Amino acid sequence: MITLETTFAGLKLKNPLIAASSGLTNSISKIVELDNAGIGAIVLKSLFEEQIENHSEKLSQITDYPEAGDYINTYIQMNHMGKYLDLIRSAKEKCNVPIIASINCYKSAKWIDFAKTIQDAGADALELNLFVLNAGEFGDTYLEDTYVSIVREIKKVIHIPVIIKMAKNISNLPGLISKLKALGADGVVLFNRFYQLDIDINSMEITSGPVFSNPTDFSDTLRWTAIVSGRVPDFDIACSYGVHSWEDAIKGILAGATSIQLCSILYEQGADAVTNMLTCLEEWMDQNNFSSLAEFKGKLNYANIKSPYMYERVQFMKYFSSYK
Ligand SMILES: Cc1cc2nc3c(=O)[nH]c(=O)nc-3n(C[C@H](O)[C@H](O)[C@H](O)COP(=O)(O)O)c2cc1C
Repeated sequence: MITLETTFAGLKLKNPLIAASSGLTNSISKIVELDNAGIGAIVLKSLFEEQIENHSEKLSQITDYPEAGDYINTYIQMNHMGKYLDLIRSAKEKCNVPIIASINCYKSAKWIDFAKTIQDAGADALELNLFVLNAGEFGDTYLEDTYVSIVREIKKVIHIPVIIKMAKNISNLPGLISKLKALGADGVVLFNRFYQLDIDINSMEITSGPVFSNPTDFSDTLRWTAIVSGRVPDFDIACSYGVHSWEDAIKGILAGATSIQLCSILYEQGADAVTNMLTCLEEWMDQNNFSSLAEFKGKLNYANIKSPYMYERVQFMKYFSSYK
């Protein structure tokens, strides 16, 4: 008898597929569709602190009275929060899988206010979508220090699992993740994909780049999943960014992930992709005589293979020698 059960960040999942935070997880109808397709857990669309602030700032400029401006700010923030809390409550009511809330904030105090309210609304866990681009205005360790201080503060006030959705460009990823684990973080998502930009050479303007990832993005995700899984044992990883097939999901688990987050594939193929991936995953396990994910999870991670330097290889020397 094959079971696809797994755990992620202290949550019990019936299978490893998690719907990543996106526009596909911002309404109850789309969430229910994913639940019906068999998804193992759902991360709601992030609540963006910046969005709330910009919105309220613009509206408060309409009035000349500072007190009225304060009132509008508070009203709008509460309205945004209220809608988000309603989404958590109805997702909990209508779905049978863990509902993970997601917040994107950049000021410590705000993160904490949001986190407590979200916990009280019934979210099963909280994913922190945190990134500040350092275009030279901050010190070398600003981003790492921000991750550390936010996890430290948030763990003091909430008891639901805290998941960190990591950016790729961290100088010492295993080192930072070890620190976050020591501070009580319950799991990590490798990786977040941020807004991509492009340049239009005709209008000579900055434009939007591709919205979705593509299959070649997965190699980096796999590399870091394997390294972090080997370097930071007993810490749950959700493999994310570039998962475009059921084979990718298996590779992520072999590299050490306990769960797999899906986004672009769900936009491209719809919720049916979940059902198909689960069927193929089970068939592959059957063919390879595995009855649980634990039997092959991390089999090929950095600590479990004979030549871990395979994961450190970044230069193309050999590749170039065969491509004259
Ligand atoms: C349209 C869209 C909206 C997204 N919104 C969010 C968001 O609100 N919060 C977040 O943490 N990630 C967001 N993401 C990132 C995804 O959760 C995911 O990390 C990223 O797309 C990489 O996974 P993929 O390769 O499966 O697409 C969004 C992605 C897309 C395409």
